[in-house]
Amino acid sequence: MKAASDSPPGQLDLHPGHERAEAKIRVEGLEYRYRPRGRDDVVALHDVDLEVRRGEFVSVVGPSGCGKSTLLRVIAGLQKPTEGRVRLRREEPASPLVAPVFQEYSIFPWRTVEANVRLGLDAAGIDRREATRRVHRWLDRVGLSGYEKAYPGNLSGGMKQRVALARAFVVEPEILLMDEPFAALDAQLRKVLQEELLAIVREHQHTVFFVTHNLDEALLLSDRIALMSARPGRIRELIDVPFGHPRQPELRQDPEFVRMEEVLWSKLRGEVQQVAGGAS
Ligand SMILES: Nc1ncnc2c1ncn2[C@@H]1O[C@H](COP(=O)(O)OP(=O)(O)OP(=O)(O)O)[C@@H](O)[C@H]1O
Ligand SMILES: [Mg+2]
Repeated sequence: MKAASDSPPGQLDLHPGHERAEAKIRVEGLEYRYRPRGRDDVVALHDVDLEVRRGEFVSVVGPSGCGKSTLLRVIAGLQKPTEGRVRLRREEPASPLVAPVFQEYSIFPWRTVEANVRLGLDAAGIDRREATRRVHRWLDRVGLSGYEKAYPGNLSGGMKQRVALARAFVVEPEILLMDEPFAALDAQLRKVLQEELLAIVREHQHTVFFVTHNLDEALLLSDRIALMSARPGRIRELIDVPFGHPRQPELRQDPEFVRMEEVLWSKLRGEVQQVAGGAS
C-alpha cells in the first residue's frame, strides 16, 4: 500500500499509519471549489486546517454559506477536495469509519422504520440475527420501540430524525458526522434529542463532527467549537469549552455558560453581518 504521506492532494486516505495518535480526523490545507457550469467558480473553503481527536465532540459554527456542509461532506468522502486532504484514522476494521446524519431526514419513505435502520447493516453483510438484535436495541434507545413496522409518512418530524439517528448509530461507526441534525425540529424536541445525543456519545465514545447554527447547542454538546469565517470559509478560531462530562441541560443556567454564549456571539456577529450585508 502506498504510504499516506505520498498520497496526492485530495485523496481521502482511510488507512494512514503514522500521524499523531490522538487525531481521528485531520484536515490539512483544504480548499474546496465548486465549478458550476457557465458561472464563476465558488471557493467554498480555503486553507482549512482542523484536527478532531479520538472521542472528541467538535462543533462547527459560522454564517450561512460559509462552507460548513461542504466541509462535512468532504470529511465524509462524498466530495473530493480541490486542494489539501482529509485523513481519517481507522481503528476498528470491523465497523464503518463514518456515518453521516443530515438535517433533512434522509430516510426512505417506502421502507418501514425497521428497514430504514437496517440498511447499513445489510450493506455491511452483518449476520441477519445480529442485525435484527442491533436494530431493535437502537430503536429502543431512541424511543421508537413499537414503531418498527411504521412508514416514515406516518411519523412526526422528530420521530423521523430519530430514525436517521438510529440508522447512524446502529452501524457502530467510529466517527459521527452530523449536519444540523436537529435544525428542523421544534425547540423542545431539539432539547430532548440533544440530551439523548449527549448520553449516547458519552456511552459509546464516538468522535463527533457536528455542524450547527445554534450556539447554545454547540456549547452544551461540544468539547471544542470551530468558528468559521464568512466565505471562503476557513477556521477563524478554535474555542475550548471548559465544561466536563457528564453534562446536564441545567448547565445552561451556569453563569460561565451564559458568558461563553455571549463571547461566541460577539465573535460570530461580524461574520454574520458580512453575509447579511451582501459581501461575498
Ligand atoms: N453545487 C454548488 N454549486 C455552486 N456553489 C455551491 C454549491 N453548493 C454550495 N455552494 C456554495 O458554496 C458555499 C458553501 O456552501 P455550504 O452549503 O457548504 O455552506 P453552509 O455553511 O453549510 O451554509 P448553511 O449555513 O446555509 O447550511 C455557499 O456559498 C454555497 O452557495
Ligand atoms: Mg449547511
